Amino acid sequence: MKATATAPANIAFIKYWGRKDHKLFLPLTTTNSMNLSACTAETVIEFGVSGGDTITITDNTGNSKEINNVPGEKDGMLYTTLDRVRQRTGVSDYAQVTSKLSFPMGAGIASSAAGMAAFVAAAYAAAGDMDTVNDREELSREIRLSGSVSAARSSHDGFTEHLYGETHEKAYTVQIAPAEHWDLVDLVAVLSPEEKKISSALGHSLADSSPFMQARLDYLNGKPELARQAILDKDFASLALLSEIDTINMHAVMMTSRPPAFYLSPASIDIMKNVISWREDQGLNVFYTFDAGPNPHVITTAAEAESVRKLLEKHSEVQFVLENHPADGVRITSHG
Ligand code: PMV
Repeated sequence: MKATATAPANIAFIKYWGRKDHKLFLPLTTTNSMNLSACTAETVIEFGVSGGDTITITDNTGNSKEINNVPGEKDGMLYTTLDRVRQRTGVSDYAQVTSKLSFPMGAGIASSAAGMAAFVAAAYAAAGDMDTVNDREELSREIRLSGSVSAARSSHDGFTEHLYGETHEKAYTVQIAPAEHWDLVDLVAVLSPEEKKISSALGHSLADSSPFMQARLDYLNGKPELARQAILDKDFASLALLSEIDTINMHAVMMTSRPPAFYLSPASIDIMKNVISWREDQGLNVFYTFDAGPNPHVITTAAEAESVRKLLEKHSEVQFVLENHPADGVRITSHG
């Protein structure tokens, strides 16, 4: 009754923000992304312990925290997910969960995608339900139900897409291309961490209060398909344009919700302007994208990664740079 799973975080090109259904966590659009090799979680789950469920997360610097059961937040969803796995598999025991991140916990790097994907896969494997683990589409639905569409994208290898669907059955992840398809590099420039005032869990429920939400959705019509094609064609310029516009539109929605969610910092904006100049004035293949946080994800090609990394490291606000290549999705590394 014990299993270990690993999963990567991912960076979205067409982002998920706001939901059609807050219980089923159905996104309002198809959303696509690339798995990240340097931002991973390894989760061990063992059923059969006494006294209650316990969940502990440790990072690569040795920081450790116990996760509390906070209803409505992602932390609480971990406990709800254990209940769902027990109910679906007939296991009645409590679970001990330990999760290790490959990157620092407090640095504002979205860890939930890696953590949730590894958590759900390890839980089903530990409960002996390998059918759910091996059916990647079904696994992606289960990961989405744990509260994170971004995590659901990590169910498949390489470049993936969570499809828009009106129902639970119709919203699931498919692969666009394997990791070896295109050696894009995501350089995450980690800025000074600031505590998020509005979690992404809350942000999704505020999105509808922005007067620009509908405008973003109207604009998005047909864009996930264009981004998918740009990935298949390895068309850097098209992916850059689609992705930069999408991230700015998403942040416009975030900043105009009630209450507003300001995730970008002055340094984020400064790096955006630098990236545009590196592309337009220096001719580098480079574009920026941001999740619900201040750290720029600077996408470039393997050939230009070293030059772009050096430029980022020169910025006074950049603490360190994490270099990611396309990676495989969730894996069970042991069970029994
Ligand atoms: O899936 P969540 O709840 O972690 O939300 C992800 C939100 C963004 O990172 C901002 C966008 C995305 O699609 O990854």
